[in-house]
Formats: sequence, C-alpha cells, structure tokens
Amino acid sequence: MASTTKQVSEHPTNRIFSGIQPTGNLHLGNYLGAIRNWVTLQPDYECIYCMVDLHAVTMYQDPAELTASTREVTASLLASGIDPKGSIVFNQSQVHAHAELAWLFNCVSRMGWLNRMTQFKEKAGKNRENASVGLYAYPNLMAADILAYKASHVPVGADQKQHLELTRDIAQAFNSTYDVDCFPMTEPLIFGEATRVMSLRDGSKKMSKSEPSDMSRITLTDGPDDIAKKIRKAKTDPLPLTASLEDLEDRPEAKNLMVIFAALSNVPVTEVHQRFDGAEFSQFKKELIELAVEVLSPITTEMQRLVADPGYVDSVLRDGAERAAELATPIVKEVQDIMGFLRP
Ligand code: TYM
Repeated sequence: MASTTKQVSEHPTNRIFSGIQPTGNLHLGNYLGAIRNWVTLQPDYECIYCMVDLHAVTMYQDPAELTASTREVTASLLASGIDPKGSIVFNQSQVHAHAELAWLFNCVSRMGWLNRMTQFKEKAGKNRENASVGLYAYPNLMAADILAYKASHVPVGADQKQHLELTRDIAQAFNSTYDVDCFPMTEPLIFGEATRVMSLRDGSKKMSKSEPSDMSRITLTDGPDDIAKKIRKAKTDPLPLTASLEDLEDRPEAKNLMVIFAALSNVPVTEVHQRFDGAEFSQFKKELIELAVEVLSPITTEMQRLVADPGYVDSVLRDGAERAAELATPIVKEVQDIMGFLRP
C-alpha cells in the first residue's frame, strides 16, 4: 500500500540541541563529555544550548540556589567558549514550548518505556514510591526539549544514550499515530576520548554532581590547589602504568586517569599509554596536575568574572529565550494542528 504519510514542515539537517542541569558546579565529566564538544560543533551547526531548570526541579532544589546555579552554569558555558551571539543560550523554564510539548509526549510515551530507564532507577533508588512523577516522566520532557526544535543532532555524554533512544521512540510513535512526518529521528553525537568520565574515588562509578564526596570530582570552580589535592588523592593501584590497553581493563581507576589525560591534552588515549609505559603513578599524576591546571584555570578565572556580572549573564539568557521561542513556537502550533486542537 502506498504511504500517505504527510510531510509537515522541513526537518533541519544541521540543528543541534543539548541541555545541562543547573544544579551545583560543573565537573570534569560535564566538561570533557559534553561542553567541550558543544564548543567545537559551533562553526558547523546551528546550536541551541539550554540550562534545563525544569529537569532540575524533578528533585527538590533550594530556590535561591537554583537561581544562582542557573547563572553559574551559564557562566561556565560562556567561559568554556560557547558564543552567545552565534549559539542560542537560555534556560528551559522561559520557553513555554518545552513544558507544553512534554505534556503532549506524556500522552504518547508509554509506562513500559519509562519503566526501562536506568537513570530513573538509579536516582529514585529504593524509595521509588516517593520519587516525584516529574522524575519518572523526565525523559518525556527531554524528548520535548529536542523535538521542539526538530533538532537533527544531540551531543551528550554516554550516560544519556538511553534517553535519546526514547526520544526517537516518541518521535516515531507520534509520526505513525498521526500518519505524518513531523518529527525527525534525531542522532546522538557521543564522541571524544572521555564520553564517560569516572569518579576519582571509585573507577566503577561515573563522576557526578550527586556523589557526596567532593574529592570524587574536579569542578570548574576548583583552583590549582584543589585540583592538585584531588588528583594526588585520586585512587590508583600499586602497579606501574602500562602501554597495553587490555592490561588496564581490570584497573578502572588507572584507565580513567589516562582517559582524562588524553581528553585534556587532545590526543588519542593510545598515545598517552605509550608515553607513560612503565611510569610510576607519582610521575604521571604530577604531569596530569600541570595539564589540568593549564586547561581549567583560564576557564575558572573567566567564569568568576562572568558570575560577578549577573546583569550580562541574564541578558544572554533573555536574548537566547527569545530566539529559542521563535524557533519552537511554530513547531508546537504545527503539533497542535496535527492533533486537532482548535486554535480559534
Ligand atoms: P547532566 O546535567 O547530567 O549532564 C550534562 C552533560 O554532561 C554529560 N556528563 C558526562 N559526560 C561524561 N562523563 C561523565 N561523568 C558525565 N556526567 C555528565 C551528560 O551526558 C550530558 O551530556 N538529561 C540531561 C540534560 C538534558 C538534555 C536534554 C541533554 C535535558 N534535556 C536534551 C540533551 C538533550 C542531564 O541530566 O545532563
């Protein structure tokens, strides 16, 4: 049977959307797994970068801290090299399309799909009954973020892969239910040496903001002394380093530090293995400290300057929200028309 699928508006082919939760300081995992890639993609794509404050409140946030963190995370992005004139930088709550489309996707997405989400299981822990409905429906809002712009690509760290698969499932289900080609099959962009940076205290856990020990992560607010202390104390093992990648498979902490070195110095991890073949950790850590301070200190300094100028940061977010709404509003209207909502 010939398909009657209706193509609605064009799908952009080079539009990027990505988001980050404005909760606490950014850490090296956020920087190496995501932000740095966002910076390098700017010349080749139309980029939309969002502080996802609606996602942040799926767990309780102190209101004053949420406000401060939203400015601080925005400042970190700008200090890392996101150009707010070319790229759109804004906070999610200020563009209504996200919450509106998320509701519609709550009605498309399936309980069975959400039940499979590993991040919900990790975050809700044993106390599932007490988790917010928002935490459970979190991936539907994420799909709305991406599809409100019909984004073609989404650069993220490896931990977001499952959520992006769900986004494609929702797009597909919507298109087939209404027999339209409204939403694209968005592609994840997961690249670089550090797609999953692990905790400095435990190489089997990912580096994360929610880990209680501050020693488990390097943040973009750490000064040279903090960076040195955290790397010196990072967990290792008694063996010297080795050029063989396989030998490190059972040594997750050693592997993680090598990956961090590779990503910070922009060389393939195999090169780092060759360079430190047979070296003691003390020598390796000394060089890693120098490298981390050299790469991160200019960002920290610029970020502090921007945090001291909230008027400027707010003006970036206001301008970004206006530009984002111009793109998203017609797409939400298109969805309303498809679903049959009366727009009198
Ligand atoms: P969030 O705020 O947890 O993290 C922001 C980005 O940092 C990446 N990341 C890591 N990469 C490597 N190693 C790590 N240890 C590490 N920790 C975090 C994440 O993969 C992410 O790219 N749900 C998202 C935010 C979001 C979003 C979106 C992303 C909301 N809507 C739409 C893309 C598109 C999150 O919580 O990211």
